[in-house]
Amino acid sequence: MTIGLIGLGNMGSAVANLVASNGNKVLGWEYNADIVKAVNTTHENARYLPGISLHPDVNATGDLNEIFETCPVIFVAIPSVFFHPTLEPFTKKGRNKLFVDLAKGIDRKTLLTSFQTLQMLFPESRHIMLSGPSIANEFSRAMPTVVVLAGETGNGLLQVAQILENDYFRVRFSQDVIGVELGGILKNSYAIGLGIFDGLSIKSINFRASYLTIALEEIAKIGVELGAKKETFLYLAGMGDLLATSLSEHSHNRRMGEFLAKGYSLSEIEKKMGVLPEGFNTLKITLYIAEKNHCSMPLAKGIWDVIHGRLEANKFVSTFIKDFIE
Ligand SMILES: NC(=O)c1ccc[n+]([C@@H]2O[C@H](COP(=O)([O-])OP(=O)(O)OC[C@H]3O[C@@H](n4cnc5c(N)ncnc54)[C@H](O)[C@@H]3O)[C@@H](O)[C@H]2O)c1
Repeated sequence: MTIGLIGLGNMGSAVANLVASNGNKVLGWEYNADIVKAVNTTHENARYLPGISLHPDVNATGDLNEIFETCPVIFVAIPSVFFHPTLEPFTKKGRNKLFVDLAKGIDRKTLLTSFQTLQMLFPESRHIMLSGPSIANEFSRAMPTVVVLAGETGNGLLQVAQILENDYFRVRFSQDVIGVELGGILKNSYAIGLGIFDGLSIKSINFRASYLTIALEEIAKIGVELGAKKETFLYLAGMGDLLATSLSEHSHNRRMGEFLAKGYSLSEIEKKMGVLPEGFNTLKITLYIAEKNHCSMPLAKGIWDVIHGRLEANKFVSTFIKDFIE
């Protein structure tokens, strides 16, 4: 059986390599033709996963048809903003597949999460969400990693667990699909906030601990409004992922916060990063949803104000201490 991977970016390449190293053949679709060529010829993806030699059983294609025609299990690792335009032409070919969603975002037009978008586009397929602390640059170097899988079917969960697990990569199961997904989605916005503090060179552990605790409280508050179980946020897909993404030097979201603290504008940051990280879109949508649900999220609102120049980055800290803690 060949496992399909849509998107050989940082996460997609790392998962492709993991799955191939576990003894599976992998076919990855990639948007960027140069990467397709590099993966097939040099077995490297220097742009998205530098320093890692890809397993010879990772092959790449620029033709998404090939994935839908050959692969019964398909991992999706493109940012959520590309889900609809990339996958919509394949709704018929994508029947009876087992999809594994690695992306963590919300579509700004439909307000559907990436997992819900997969369910909507491929209603006759099975779907599994993978979330939890899973920084690609770490597990691609065999660093110990435990993630959470949540989905509809027991068999599908077991099958995906078998594809992924080895000595350093383990999975746990959860029945709270929306909670697992929202933990992964919402934490990205708060990682931007921690990046602001890092960009201001604030080294205080007291402060980080307070910030992350308050962030988790807000995540759980809106998550419960949206149907998640509160306990889910106290575990790997909530607290675990929030800590990993906020503290990791590899996090795109945290890096965006550092740029904000250094005074870069949104358009300058977009130019530097190529695509704005998922947390930016998520923040906008979360604040919209929170307002509709009469749910106050002062910390998220503060990050949004820094992004739009309504609150100076260096005032964010004093404001956090005074005003964001309800
Ligand atoms: N990087 C991580 O450690 C990590 C961990 C867990 C989850 N994720 C999630 O995985 C998803 C992908 O993140 P990433 O870090 O791999 O991103 P990335 O920036 O490394 O890769 C982006 C991918 O999107 C593709 N792409 C770019 N433009 C496109 C277009 N117009 N249409 C279709 N595809 C296009 C790129 O070719 C590439 O495959 C995100 O939702 C992220 O939250 C990432």
